[in-house]
Amino acid sequence: MIIMDEKLDRVNRLGWLDVKVDPSIDIFAEINRLKKEKNAIILAHYYQDADIQDVADYIGDSLGLSQEAERTKASIIVFAGVHFMAETAKILNPDKKVVLPDLRAGCSLADSCPPKEFAAFKANHPDHIVISYINCSAEIKAMSDIICTSSNAIGIVNSLPADQKIIFAPDKNLGRYIIRKTGRDMVLWNGACMVHEIFSLEKITRLKAMHPNAKLISHPECETPILDISDFIGSTTGLLNFTKKSADTEFIVATETGILHQMIKNSPDKTFIPAPPNNACACNDCPHMKLNTLEKLYLCLKEELPELLMEEEIRLKALKPIKRMLQISKDLGL
Ligand code: 13P
Ligand code: SF4
Repeated sequence: MIIMDEKLDRVNRLGWLDVKVDPSIDIFAEINRLKKEKNAIILAHYYQDADIQDVADYIGDSLGLSQEAERTKASIIVFAGVHFMAETAKILNPDKKVVLPDLRAGCSLADSCPPKEFAAFKANHPDHIVISYINCSAEIKAMSDIICTSSNAIGIVNSLPADQKIIFAPDKNLGRYIIRKTGRDMVLWNGACMVHEIFSLEKITRLKAMHPNAKLISHPECETPILDISDFIGSTTGLLNFTKKSADTEFIVATETGILHQMIKNSPDKTFIPAPPNNACACNDCPHMKLNTLEKLYLCLKEELPELLMEEEIRLKALKPIKRMLQISKDLGL
């Protein structure tokens, strides 16, 4: 059992709700000063706010962030992303302090796979190997044989013998995409990401007609009909690299809008259009990712709270499939 002191417990439950940042400070300068003073590194996912991306030491997709977490020599990792990402960093770094701006930043996809139900599902397929997408809890990772991300999933599935039976969890959309790309017959857990399921096929089709030269680029967490009409499918890093290298100048982007910051920064003369959701809200902003703010990041670095803590037994079990993923990715040159 983890014993939390009162302050940690309060920040964990309430976030930084009742703490105000002095508006007169230069928050960017303060973050940079604290980073040096504490030998801390800020790892940020592309779905974070532009301000957070601008102050980060490393911005990446889930694979890049895991690789960076494995190689860092920093004493403190400030993880600007969601809980499962910070958890992965902690699994790889038991002796480092891992903090995140808001401990409540979860993930609808990770939540769609509760450990008890998944254990029963796994028990029904005893001769199957379990490949889990990194967007899952440490408990699910602990029940898995190999972890994958959207940038190495096809390579990892292809690295297994052709007759190997596979359970793929928790994202059914990514799972279906891998089946189509590899020809493997995988058993899929029925989970999905709330952001990538919201895109409207009708509105995207209309948008394509209005911008006939635009390329539709999509994340594999999107549903099959969207992927079917896409010109390119890839992880966030894959999508960003595609826009950098492509001779095309107009892109409809079917993933969370945070990635547009780096796309625009890298290719200021190109046009990026966020793919529209199937209703009037800003649903292609991930509400979990967007719980983190620059102010919370500053407070989290200053106070070293909230800290991600984990049971050692779960950590050790979850470490094995993550290490396996990192080794296969290295062998594949990823
Ligand atoms: P990648 O950045 O690995 O493509 O993952 C996208 C995502 O949904 C993260 O939550
Ligand atoms: Fe989870 Fe989707 Fe948000 Fe990524 S974008 S953190 S998969 S809910």
